[in-house]
Amino acid sequence: MHNIREVLDNVYWVGVNDRRITRFENLFEIERGVSYNSYVIKDEKNILFDSVDAAFTRNYLENVEAALGGEDLDYLVVLHMEPDHCRSIEAALKKWPNAKFVGNAKTFKFYEQFYNDEFKDRYFEVKDQDELDLGQRTIKFITAPMVHWPEVMMAYEKKDKIFFSADAFGSFNAIEGNIDAKHVIHKGDWLDQARRYYINIVGKFGNMVQNVFKKIDGLEIKAILALHGPVYKDPETIDFIVNKYQIWSSFKSEEKGVAIVYASMYGDTEQASDILAGKLADLGVEDIVLYDVSDWDPSYPIADCHRFSHTVFAPINYNSGLYYKMEAFLNELVGTGYKNKKVSFLNNWSWGGRSLEIAKEILKPAKCEYIGEDVKINSSVKKEDLANLDDLARVIAEDIKNTEI
Ligand code: FEO
Repeated sequence: MHNIREVLDNVYWVGVNDRRITRFENLFEIERGVSYNSYVIKDEKNILFDSVDAAFTRNYLENVEAALGGEDLDYLVVLHMEPDHCRSIEAALKKWPNAKFVGNAKTFKFYEQFYNDEFKDRYFEVKDQDELDLGQRTIKFITAPMVHWPEVMMAYEKKDKIFFSADAFGSFNAIEGNIDAKHVIHKGDWLDQARRYYINIVGKFGNMVQNVFKKIDGLEIKAILALHGPVYKDPETIDFIVNKYQIWSSFKSEEKGVAIVYASMYGDTEQASDILAGKLADLGVEDIVLYDVSDWDPSYPIADCHRFSHTVFAPINYNSGLYYKMEAFLNELVGTGYKNKKVSFLNNWSWGGRSLEIAKEILKPAKCEYIGEDVKINSSVKKEDLANLDDLARVIAEDIKNTEI
């Protein structure tokens, strides 16, 4: 049976929800699934945007067939060749043999890298700003390299002013009935999940996202249809998500607050972090989150390190180096483009080692501003350490008060 939604006049969501995987890209934990969105526009020529993961090919084909209502498919547009979206292209092209395969030169190169050149004679190559006439509607293609792969394109439907944004403006979480963003984005932890999706998957390409904003500047957008998550089709929700993407893609802090990321083998550095967090709270800091690098999928603390204005790292020694989960975390954090933050250190140096030095070395490209004196504890927190923790808490709390978001 099909499961389709008419999201706008003659525009159908024909995607699927994936609640089978526990990690997106086999990396990022997902809690409430993810949707792979595809869309059909019915016109004099019928067009389909993207496909879905291989596990859902049958559902996808049934959905497209239902949306077409017995008509033929004229174009299959591939905005993105990552396999969460490209695994059912072959099945769709076989089912609708008259459909042209619309992509750019890189789309076809990637298709042939993943698969073969079986559909070469059906390639319909487009370039940046090219337009495709469907009858009542016209589609304009906008190349968007590295948002999130080199071949990515976006598309703008000129009549109803619909922006097909590929991975941009996407989010984790399967669609739970409500597909309209206005029923979704202010509920539960949706924003946290959307941020985690963006920061970890597309985040490092913030400059490329900014380039897209420049390219679409001046285009009136009445709906955003992304490849994951809900659809945006009213000014309030469009403004909301565009504003978030402006902040995220320019590597600005979204909120005042402190993320404390610690490594702790036997709980002593955790206790030091808790003591610091308590002191920050006593000084009026509202938003404080603590993450044990050993416990958490790194995507969660990474998202909050980007979100909050201040971060405290609590690295520990392991043998003579840096505890490897903290080392991996910091490398990944820097890899996501983390920068322009206020950063402090709480180090448990125990019997020696270079953990603090290595942590700072890894963070060098992030060009952070260090706040307060590094607090160093020797194996566990002693009375004499409390004054140093007090001082650090005071400096951070004061700086937060003076921070403009
Ligand atoms: Fe949703 Fe970059 O794939």
